[in-house]
Amino acid sequence: MTTLQVDVWRGAQSGRYQRFEVPREANQTVLDVVTYIQRRLDATLAYRFACRVGMCGSCAMTVNGVARWTCRTHVSKVAHGGRVEIGPLANLPVIKDLATDMREFFDKWARAKGSLAPTATRRDDFARVPPDSPARAAATAGIECIGCGVCYASCDVVAWNPDYLGPAALNRAWTLANDVRDGARVERLRAVAGDAGCHACHTHMSCTERCPKAIAPTASIAGLKRATALAALKGEL
Ligand code: SF4
Ligand code: SF4
Ligand code: FES
Repeated sequence: MTTLQVDVWRGAQSGRYQRFEVPREANQTVLDVVTYIQRRLDATLAYRFACRVGMCGSCAMTVNGVARWTCRTHVSKVAHGGRVEIGPLANLPVIKDLATDMREFFDKWARAKGSLAPTATRRDDFARVPPDSPARAAATAGIECIGCGVCYASCDVVAWNPDYLGPAALNRAWTLANDVRDGARVERLRAVAGDAGCHACHTHMSCTERCPKAIAPTASIAGLKRATALAALKGEL
């Protein structure tokens, strides 16, 4: 039987990597490895997951220095010389071991006004949005985000400026700015136009390269840069 050497982060903000030996299995994922350790070797290991099929986003961790969904990452793709290093997501406070505190990530969604401000009531008819309209296409491009934090953990600007709203919140703001049913476009543009908003993005593209849903937050942020500049010229901000 072959084994995998797994270095796992233990502790909180400060801590150390602890080595475990885990049997190799066919089609084994990184989440399988973490689960094996927690169930068979050390029940005190803290980590988070729910769906195991790439739907919830809660299993995101840092694997060999790269943020990934561990349930969709096969060990065979990432193990170098029979070894893999697993840590918590970067740019977020660590609660314990592999579990991060996502509060500031979701607080930033709220700061970016990431929820729909409806203009219709339940007595109104359904909105009819032409599927091929440019606004609908822009909203569709970003709407599948599941809030996993992979892009946020991969963003250098978040690391330099913890106040920066980050790629996921800004992608959400752009999705809603293109939703014709929404009534808070100007307030939302105002919320993302400040120093910690879209103009702080340096277009490094790490978010777009790493997003497991193939969303391009960089493109959404570019859209917000254009829209906020235009709104400023019109005196709306
Ligand atoms: S944009 Fe992609 S990487 Fe970022 S939170 Fe959404 S799904 Fe995750
Ligand atoms: S493109 Fe912008 S938001 Fe995305 S990782 Fe780079 S700096 Fe961060
Ligand atoms: S456990 Fe849900 S996406 Fe990995």
